[in-house]
Amino acid sequence: MAATQSRHIAIDPFQERYQNLGKENIRALGLELHEDYSHQVLPELARNMESFEFIFIDGDHKFDGIFVDFYYGDLLLKQGGYLLLHDTWMRSTQLVLAFIRKNRPDYVRQRIPCRNFALFQKVSEDQRDGMHYREFLSLKGTVSHKLITWLSTGKSSALKKIVFSIKEKLK
Ligand SMILES: C[S@@+](CC[C@H](N)C(=O)[O-])C[C@H]1O[C@@H](n2cnc3c(N)ncnc32)[C@H](O)[C@@H]1O
Repeated sequence: MAATQSRHIAIDPFQERYQNLGKENIRALGLELHEDYSHQVLPELARNMESFEFIFIDGDHKFDGIFVDFYYGDLLLKQGGYLLLHDTWMRSTQLVLAFIRKNRPDYVRQRIPCRNFALFQKVSEDQRDGMHYREFLSLKGTVSHKLITWLSTGKSSALKKIVFSIKEKLK
């Protein structure tokens, strides 16, 4: 970003938790940092009619935090632009991905060789009407999440070992 001199905005209210390392790197590169919550900064950027070619969501990892970042990220993303989400192993991220897949035909997921990321291109306008909703929770996703939670928490048991080995074989 520094090499192309393109505008780059980072948002992070907790830099002191990371010895301000990101802050120092951003300053050294002459890029912009907002030391505030994304739910405060993104609406302000949208109000100012800012737009971007690339949005990276990797902040608050709770479902509602990611969803709000996606909502405003979408308002800020140009048509043809790309949106990248990190930590697709998390159920919260997976639910946002399922929402996009079922409800946002204007976003097309791109194949990428990186694990734990999901990249989308915004290919058209959002043409949904105000009543639009498509169910995005699936039985498979819910059962799989419950199974993984059960396997990875609490006491180990013979049953858990058997279920785990079956799951590994089915991979
Ligand atoms: C997993 S780290 C990722 C940082 C960076 N994307 C990277 O890959 O190095 C998550 C970051 O999001 C920040 N964060 C947490 N909640 C946030 C929020 N509500 N708004 C903006 N940033 C937030 C944290 O301070 C942390 O730096």
